[in-house]
Amino acid sequence: VKTSSIAQSSSIIDEDEIVSIKGWVRTVRKQKTVAFVEVNDGSNMGGIQCVLNIDDVDESTMAEIDKLTTGCSVHAVGNIVKSRGGKQSHELSASSIRIIGQCPGESYPLAKKRHSLEYLRTIAHLRPRTNTIAAVGRVRSILAGAIHSYFQAGGFRYVQTPLITASDCEGAGEMFRVTTLDLDDVDSLPRIRNEKTGIVSRGVDHGRDFFGKAAFLTVSGQLGGEAYATALGDVYTFGPTFRAENSQTARHLAEFWMVEPEMAFADLTSAMDSAEGMLKYVVSRALEECDEDLTFFANFFDKGLRGRLEKLVNTPFVRLPYRDAIMYLREEISKDPSKWQFPEVEFGTDLATEHERWLAEKKFESAVFVYNYPKKIKAFYMRDNDDDGGETVNAMDLLVPGVGELVGGSQREERLDVLVEKMKELDLNIDDYWWYLDLRRFGSVPHAGYGLGFERLVTYVCGIDNIRDAIAFPRYPGNAEF
Ligand code: 4AD
Ligand code: MG
Repeated sequence: VKTSSIAQSSSIIDEDEIVSIKGWVRTVRKQKTVAFVEVNDGSNMGGIQCVLNIDDVDESTMAEIDKLTTGCSVHAVGNIVKSRGGKQSHELSASSIRIIGQCPGESYPLAKKRHSLEYLRTIAHLRPRTNTIAAVGRVRSILAGAIHSYFQAGGFRYVQTPLITASDCEGAGEMFRVTTLDLDDVDSLPRIRNEKTGIVSRGVDHGRDFFGKAAFLTVSGQLGGEAYATALGDVYTFGPTFRAENSQTARHLAEFWMVEPEMAFADLTSAMDSAEGMLKYVVSRALEECDEDLTFFANFFDKGLRGRLEKLVNTPFVRLPYRDAIMYLREEISKDPSKWQFPEVEFGTDLATEHERWLAEKKFESAVFVYNYPKKIKAFYMRDNDDDGGETVNAMDLLVPGVGELVGGSQREERLDVLVEKMKELDLNIDDYWWYLDLRRFGSVPHAGYGLGFERLVTYVCGIDNIRDAIAFPRYPGNAEF
């Protein structure tokens, strides 16, 4: 008996080979002499149809068929044969089926077939059993692997930077504070009852710091990445980051994964080249390896999906100075300002999603790097453009259709005196960044890097609307249940 995943089963059409599969029942159809049981094990989109001829199955299988319900886990044995029905190429002609775990139809939330994505977020522990979230999970896994392959093949080292830190990389004050909880204190904490689940837990509401020091969840791994880039050369991080912004949009999460390459002896152009090369590679890998899932997303979410992804892979990204972006936007907005939520656009405006999407979707119909942003809307560590009256920095954002900002990066300020001056202007506490400044004191080099929001990439590649469906257990204001 050969044990097979359902995805692999297509390659073993063989009357003589007994195949064993395990998975979860999606649907059961019983007729007089035959039962059709669709079984899915997550290895592919469609699962497999198990056909049970009442005349051919053993006694105990007869009894099991009556108990089969949507959601129960099963073990089926039989031969893989060419399917006579038109829906699938092959099926399992099963000689036996056994229930491993029952699933009561009355209380199983997924017993009914169609559910909104909003509803599925309230059962995030069960939603990977749906076609959509399972497909997102598979695409996400391929993309993560492809990102590692791309950088590893390019000689980048994978660095794991800490999640608990004292530094605010983006200087935006959007940090979650970390507190230590003394076990002796647990009993004195207030009891909090979750109305939905009825689970009672102990609330943490005292402001104890990280063993006497203020500590936060990191907003970015960049600063640590810079330390390693100035030792190992080209490096990248790929890990969770946190933003305490109270934002309820379809593009923001409070916890998201970021890929942050950092390159020594590099400038802004190298950062753009790297981001473009990496995205082309990982998207082409998804096109090659997620064909079935992308077809599903194209059918149910975004008809133009495949064309858009192929275009990203095959055409050079537009590179547009911020000043030109403002010029194009002003031109367009002046045609009909009432159409815009944010019609006031001038040098110094932080582009809103509607501006970003117009540039990528309407003006250029392409991925667009906007670069040389005004200094005053960008982070402290970005390198001044010396030839621009000191007004702009070597920063870039990559904007893509359907999403807006997918990547943000810059050449870093490597000159100690310039950096210190800038931090003072911004009222940053120099002492907090003493180790970061050391990197400029001891063998400083021009260097550059960028951050790719991994869930935004998943959203983009799957053509789905909401970033909350691009991560297993989304964290957004008020939601940390699962
Ligand atoms: O533009 P950001 O804030 O840049 C940085 O954090 C730099 N330290 C990166 C670097 O140069 N190493 O974030 C980078 C990317 C954004 O372009 C966006 O794709 C994503 O991270 N991002 C978010 N994704 C989901 N939810 C949020 N709240 C996000 N904030 C940023
Ligand atoms: Mg940004």
